[in-house]
Amino acid sequence: MNTTERKLVRMMADTFLKLDHIKKYFGGVKALKGVSLEVRSGEIHCLAGENGCGKSTLIKVISGAHDATEGEIYIEGSKIDKLTPIESIRLGIQVIYQDFAVFPNLSVAENIAMNRALMTGNKKMNWKEARELALQAMEQIGAHMDPDVLVERLSVANKQMVAICRAIINDAKLLILDEPTTALTANEVEKLNTIIRNLKAKGMAIVIVNHKLDEIYKIADRLTILRNGENVATGMITEFDRARFVKCMTGHEVADTIYRPEPSDEEIVKVENLTKKGAFEQVSFCVKKGDMLGITGLLGSGRGEIGDALFGIAPAEEGVITLNGKKIEIHSIQDAMQHKIGYVPEDRLTQGLFMNRSICQNTVAASIAKYLGKMGLNHNKMKEITNYWIKTIGCAAPSAEATMRTLSGGNAQKMVIAKWLNTEPSLLILNGPTVGVDVGSKADIHAILHNLAKKGIGVIIISDDLNELIHNCNKLIIMKNGRTSGVLETGDMSEAELTGLLNSGM
Ligand SMILES: Nc1ncnc2c1ncn2[C@@H]1O[C@H](COP(=O)(O)OP(=O)(O)OP(=O)(O)O)[C@@H](O)[C@H]1O
Ligand SMILES: [Mg+2]
Repeated sequence: MNTTERKLVRMMADTFLKLDHIKKYFGGVKALKGVSLEVRSGEIHCLAGENGCGKSTLIKVISGAHDATEGEIYIEGSKIDKLTPIESIRLGIQVIYQDFAVFPNLSVAENIAMNRALMTGNKKMNWKEARELALQAMEQIGAHMDPDVLVERLSVANKQMVAICRAIINDAKLLILDEPTTALTANEVEKLNTIIRNLKAKGMAIVIVNHKLDEIYKIADRLTILRNGENVATGMITEFDRARFVKCMTGHEVADTIYRPEPSDEEIVKVENLTKKGAFEQVSFCVKKGDMLGITGLLGSGRGEIGDALFGIAPAEEGVITLNGKKIEIHSIQDAMQHKIGYVPEDRLTQGLFMNRSICQNTVAASIAKYLGKMGLNHNKMKEITNYWIKTIGCAAPSAEATMRTLSGGNAQKMVIAKWLNTEPSLLILNGPTVGVDVGSKADIHAILHNLAKKGIGVIIISDDLNELIHNCNKLIIMKNGRTSGVLETGDMSEAELTGLLNSGM
C-alpha cells in the first residue's frame, strides 16, 4: 500500500456515517431527492440550507425516525439495512431536535437517565443511579443544575444542557443538533461552542444545523449546503465566503439591504412612562408612519416583557398608551386584539401555532370573525386567504389543508407572521420575527415589514439579532435590567457600536 492509499484507508476508517443518495418522499412531497453526505469522527460538520430544503428530514432519516424511501446508510463502514430509532441510538447516534424533546414534568435526572432506562429495557428507573448518571454527565460538560428540579423550570439554555447530557451518557459517537442556537444568547452560544469543541476533541462526530454564517464560521470544520432536497456543496468552511454561502443556499445573490425609512409626522403609537415593577420602568417611545422601532437587550433585560405588556399578556401597571390618536387601556389580550394589536411571540411552537391543525385554521385563528357568516364559517374564503398568504410570504407548503406540523420550522414561523398580518393590525409587535428563518426569506419578511410601516402600521421588532435591527430599524431602544436607554437613532450605527452599547453601563 502506498502513502496515498494508506491515507485513504485512514480517512475511510474515520468516516462515521455515510449516506448514499438518500431519498425521502412524503406522498407527493419530495423532501430529499438523493442526498449524499459523509460525517467523520472528530469533526464538526455544519448543515445549512433554506427553510424546507430537507435538513430536519435528513436528520430524522439518520435517527431512524423516518424510513428513507431510497438510498443507503453506512455506519462505521457497515451497511445498515433497517435503521430504527433504537438501532440508531445503539449505534451511537444521538439527536437533539429543534424543541430538544425534553419532558417538562420530569426532573433533570429523570430526563437525562431516560434513554438509558429505555435501552436496557428496565421499566423501572433506579433513582439513585439516575441521579448519579446525571451528575456525572453534567460534570463532563461543566453544567451545574439541581438533578431534582423539574425541567419545566429551567431556562432554554439549561433544557438544552439536559438534552446534551442525555446524549453523552448514551455513549454518543455522533451528536446531531438541529438549530441549537436559535433561542440562546450570545454568551450561551459561546458556552455551547466550548462544550461542542470538547466533545469533538474526544473524537465525537458532530453535525449542527445552523443558518447563521457568523456562527458557522466560529465552530465548523466542514459545511454541507442543501437546496431543495439536494446537496449542492460540501467543503472546508474556509472555502466559503458570504457570497458563495448565500448563492449556494438560495441559488442567487441576496443583497444586504438597509431600510432607511422617511417617517412622516403622523403618530401611530405613543407610549409614555410604561412601567411594570420588576420587569421594566419608564419606557417611552413614539412610532410614526414609516418608522420601524427596534427593542433589544440581553435576555432578562425586560425587552420581551414590553411586548407582553403591550399585548396584554402581562399588562403594565403604569403609563399611557395612545394608538392612532386615542388613549387606550390594555389589561388583557382581548383588549389588545380589540385595539388591533398583533403579536408574534418568541416561542412560536408553543404560543404561536396549533401544530395539529391545518395551515388554513392557523392562518385565520386570530381573525376568525371575518369568516363567520349566517351560514357558519366560509371555508372557501378561508382557503382563498390562506393561499394568498402562502404565496405572499413565500411559505413552502403543499396546500392550505396540510397539517401545520408537516411544515419545516422556518416555514411555520412565516405562517405565524401571516396569521397576524391577516388581522390587519394597527400595531404589530414581533418578538424574534426571523429566528430560524433563512437568509432569502429573512429579506422577504423584512420587505413585508417595511411595506407595513410605509402604509402606516406601527411596527416594533424585539430582537437580539443586532444586524437585523440596524439594517431595518431607524429607532432603537436598548434595555438593561428593566431600564431603558431612551430612543436612539440607528443612523449608520455599526454592529460593533451596538454591541458596545449593549455591554456598557448605558
Ligand atoms: N411529516 C411530513 N409530511 C409531509 N411533508 C413533510 C413532513 N415533514 C417534512 N415535510 C416537508 O418536507 C420538506 C423539508 O422539510 P424539513 O423540515 O426537512 O426542512 P428544513 O430544512 O429542516 O427547514 P427549516 O430550516 O425551516 O427547519 C418541507 O417541504 C416540509 O414541508
Ligand atoms: Mg428544520
